[in-house]
Amino acid sequence: MHKLVVANYKMNGSVDFYSSAQKKINKLKLKDTNIVLCPPFVYLPFFKIKNKNVALGCQDISNKVNKKCTGQISPLMLNEFGVKYCIIGHSERRSNGETNIQVCEKVKTACENGIVPIVCVGEESKASKLDVLEEQVTAALSGSNNITPIFAYEPVWAIGSGEIPTVAKINKALSIIKKTAKKLGYNSQILYGGSVNLQNYKELLASNADGFLLGGISLNVDDFISLTKGVENE
Ligand code: PGA
Repeated sequence: MHKLVVANYKMNGSVDFYSSAQKKINKLKLKDTNIVLCPPFVYLPFFKIKNKNVALGCQDISNKVNKKCTGQISPLMLNEFGVKYCIIGHSERRSNGETNIQVCEKVKTACENGIVPIVCVGEESKASKLDVLEEQVTAALSGSNNITPIFAYEPVWAIGSGEIPTVAKINKALSIIKKTAKKLGYNSQILYGGSVNLQNYKELLASNADGFLLGGISLNVDDFISLTKGVENE
């Protein structure tokens, strides 16, 4: 299976940043690795993807379609700009009040409109049990059929903290996610996310993860490219 590297730019960047980033990323020669770039909504129209291994994604989606939803972005609008993937249920949105029910509705609206959801799940603290993964995965999948969801295991405590779980813990989490999705009939690709950088990605590649969801490092395009090439060559 191809490895997947997803750039979550969060609420960062500018027209200049994304023009120069895409120029460099469009030139990358990749065989076994695919990239998804997820800028904030307003920058989507500036992307002209010219690389078969690169796709456009976004960081959220409306949980309703054709409803009165001030401030929301519908999947139909995302379709117009060539968006193929959507990060759903990132912990920074969950901590702002996004519920498992809304995550489930968003997965459904994305899938019904040809957008692949990248659903983020993860435990809050280093000491937390991993039970929450089963609950989050089950909730995310409960409203949809015929989808190919991708999951990203992102321990909340590892995001932006410089700390990462052991490979054994990542593999345990991935196996819970995989088993839960399988019980519901899905064979999901699962990424790891949280403080991945040039120093630790090789260690993390030794886990069973199918790729990475990258935050901070995506903002340094040269580092992002080095990491992606490293993933490709592993
Ligand atoms: P980080 O963020 O790589 O900066 O830890 C990952 C994420 O929030 O998806």
